[in-house]
Amino acid sequence: MSHHEDDRSAISGPSRRQFLILSGAVAAATSIGAAIPTAASAALGGGIGNLPGYPFTLGVASGDPLADSVILWTRLAPEPLAVGSGMPPKNVPVHWQVAHDEAFTQIVREGEVFALPEYNHSVRVDVRGLAPDRWYFYRFRCGPELSPVGRTRTLPAAGAQVNSFTISHASCQTWQTGYFTAYRYMAQDDIDLVLHLGDYIYEGAITAAAPRGGTFVPDEVRAATNTVDQYRLRYSLYKLDPDLQAAHAAFPWAITRDDHEVTNDYAGGIDRGQKQLARRAAGYQAWWENTPTRCAPPVGPDQRIYRRFTIGSLAQLDLLDSRQYRIGDNDPLVSKLGDEQEAWLIDGINSTGATWHVFAQGQQLGGVNQDSPTRNRVYRAYHDRQVYPVIFSGDLHWALVQDSLLAVPDPTSAIVGTEFIVTSITSTGDGPGDQATKDNWLKRPWIRYVDGYRGFIRTTFTPTGATATLRNVKFVTRPDAPTWDAQRFYIEAGRPGVTLV
Ligand SMILES: [Fe+2]
Repeated sequence: MSHHEDDRSAISGPSRRQFLILSGAVAAATSIGAAIPTAASAALGGGIGNLPGYPFTLGVASGDPLADSVILWTRLAPEPLAVGSGMPPKNVPVHWQVAHDEAFTQIVREGEVFALPEYNHSVRVDVRGLAPDRWYFYRFRCGPELSPVGRTRTLPAAGAQVNSFTISHASCQTWQTGYFTAYRYMAQDDIDLVLHLGDYIYEGAITAAAPRGGTFVPDEVRAATNTVDQYRLRYSLYKLDPDLQAAHAAFPWAITRDDHEVTNDYAGGIDRGQKQLARRAAGYQAWWENTPTRCAPPVGPDQRIYRRFTIGSLAQLDLLDSRQYRIGDNDPLVSKLGDEQEAWLIDGINSTGATWHVFAQGQQLGGVNQDSPTRNRVYRAYHDRQVYPVIFSGDLHWALVQDSLLAVPDPTSAIVGTEFIVTSITSTGDGPGDQATKDNWLKRPWIRYVDGYRGFIRTTFTPTGATATLRNVKFVTRPDAPTWDAQRFYIEAGRPGVTLV
């Protein structure tokens, strides 16, 4: 078979279209496991050379789905905990396939891309021409080696009626604090899209002598991350986790950042000078290389990652960046989202007639008990238009569900929407958390539920209601923790306020 030239360009940008190959002819001619040199590898002089080991150690991922497209991701890393990941400093061809079935007998699309050393041999494919609202399987091949198989899905077409769509959101996964058991349960769940709301890695030094039951961590990987190579190693360490890999392979994800993708509590970076901006550039670069995102790569310390997803006529989902554009947490003169992002968010309230309006972010716009200028402006916009958002947040390391008030902390003010702050995957360690902190929050009548276990939240949206379930794990400091559904919540479409059910 012959490959289209257009199918094997370098890692694709957001607007690049993969050219399509007729599925029937491809299926008949393809033998993906065979060690036959592809056109591209032949052009390079005979293939990928001798890699020092299996290249797909970090698994596969997909993300940022559209109705006709999804981004596929992997990274070649035969030695994931070494700088350069054990890869030769040259472009390496990688073949990809999308199929209707897990056995890859019905190939839908396939092609070839180059993994480039300047992107740490990460691979990103923007697969186009897929059918809306359906599941697919995908895999990669590098030389004779096949990747694990991932499963992904497209979004429903714009305006389509959707009976049900399930989103899970998660955040905050300090690797050395514990096991990512919550992801194992997530991988077994029935989910259409996973949102990761930041703190995918933590940048601090790993000091424990033998974290996670004695796992060996090389010194280069332990150091606090400052350079792009250090951030890359940190992603490698995290992405070796089998439970995280399983959750990525099971569903498409949409990922935003909080602070620890760069450094604790950073606010924009403008106030901390050039050194801080260089670190931000390094952190953003490694984040982009390691996430299945449609976002264009960062330009220095700048990268737009706020973006919108449309789930038929059922929901509009706005994924925010609550770090990059702010100057300070408590400065009343500045915006937490930046002027452009805030205007984009507020414009979006009117841009769709979707039943549900969801926005998701790393850190909440105000505090649990506090307003903020940004929060006030955004909540006022929703309130004025009588749109009741469902708000997904991370950062807090507590599960906290609240009716968001127009004028917090005035309990008589109007309910604008409902916020589901998700707990962490591991950060802070085993639950149930400090009882006094919990009791203090629960004194506020708009705070409906607080829980200090680790886990994630799964929310199913239908045309008439949204049901959210808090899925907890008992502990993270040991493997194989049991899980349970701690609490269920219901919101009726078009009506403000959450009910515990
Ligand atoms: Fe965190």
